[in-house]
Amino acid sequence: MSLRILEKRSPTQPSTSEGSSNDMNGTALRAQKVLAVLYSGGKYGARNPRMLGTTEQALGLGDYLKSKGHTLVVTDDKEGADSTFQKEIVDADILITTPFHPGYATRDVISKAKNLKLCITAGVGSDHIDLNAANERKITVAEVSGSNVVSVAEHVVMTMLCLVRNFVPAHEQIRAGDWNVAKVAQDAYDIEGKVIGTIGAGRIGQRVLRRLQPFDPKQLYYYDYTELPNEIAKDIKVERITDLKEFLGKLDILTINCPLHEQTKGMINKETIGWMKKGSWIVNTARGAICDADAIAEAVNSGHLLGYGGDVWPVQPAPANMPWRTMAHPNSEGDKFNVGSAMTPHYSGTTLDAQKRYADGTKTILENYLNHKPQDPQNLICEGGDYATKAYGAGKRA
Ligand code: NAI
Repeated sequence: MSLRILEKRSPTQPSTSEGSSNDMNGTALRAQKVLAVLYSGGKYGARNPRMLGTTEQALGLGDYLKSKGHTLVVTDDKEGADSTFQKEIVDADILITTPFHPGYATRDVISKAKNLKLCITAGVGSDHIDLNAANERKITVAEVSGSNVVSVAEHVVMTMLCLVRNFVPAHEQIRAGDWNVAKVAQDAYDIEGKVIGTIGAGRIGQRVLRRLQPFDPKQLYYYDYTELPNEIAKDIKVERITDLKEFLGKLDILTINCPLHEQTKGMINKETIGWMKKGSWIVNTARGAICDADAIAEAVNSGHLLGYGGDVWPVQPAPANMPWRTMAHPNSEGDKFNVGSAMTPHYSGTTLDAQKRYADGTKTILENYLNHKPQDPQNLICEGGDYATKAYGAGKRA
């Protein structure tokens, strides 16, 4: 656990600091309490100032907030009623958290957080917040849209290559001093000539498709309730399928790139996996809970899926006994070098390049809020009691 309080004020005590934020009429905004739930960087966070997403570097916000007379509380301790998160949220005005180590703002947490006005996702994906509860309280939810979409798209293509070429067991064989070409070649294929589809063709989905095109896939498809403009679809050479069963049935490789919300939770389950071809692969870097955890493990363990990979888990950090840690295709034959899994901790969107972008973006959202300036519309998920985006299954504008 890491907790740092830069300046402690009563939440109702007005700021007298010279640098405090003013509204457009020059009225001082009272000192705000900002609670940031971030992953601990340990020695890596302490020694590398570019690890901006860690508790140690606190998104580079410490000096800025202090100079404006606000309080910043930073923690990675987020689980359970006695956690720092649960204790500090009760009088926090602003919650900042990352999807990599999310402080889950459930309905219960939101009801306890009497002062909460703004939730900022330092990154992309705000499903850790009960968005309906936030709307009922007119809490603004903003994320740093686009900040790590390239980082994720690269990870998707890498994971696809790892699975399709059976890279992980091959590499581990070498580390162990073994050499058995046939054992790894029996599950190794090319991406060329495969049928690949994305659920969600937004910022990440489109970037994945563009990066796959040079591999000469047989066909690219997308499944999304938002239709791509014709010129983009033509440019990426992707076709839309609106029926999920038909879409999944065509694919050799599925990549999931939509947000987690009521309509996508558990979308990939025993029934829908059954619509996929035997020997197909799934890459999920969107959110773990879009897939039914047991159904995925069963499909890999039985050999229906040749592999599943990604970096997102239904609960993060993932418990030690989570079945995705150990699932293995039957061709693993009990070997410790499992065929069929290319799982990592949630890190695809937190490369050092991405950390810079989402830290800068978080500061901009904060500055806008503290100075009563409008937010960039593309960053808004909820505002004024309603959804500000269509991406979470509801709302007014794309
Ligand atoms: P985006 O908002 O640009 O695109 C999302 C697309 O999903 C939209 O086109 C939307 O219409 C579509 N969609 C929503 N519900 C759908 C449904 N029921 N069926 C089919 N399509 C649906 O979002 P972006 O930037 O592409 O990010 C997508 C998601 O990726 C995020 O919400 C987040 O969960 C995840 N993500 C993961 C990261 C990681 O580090 N693993 C980092 C960044 C994002």
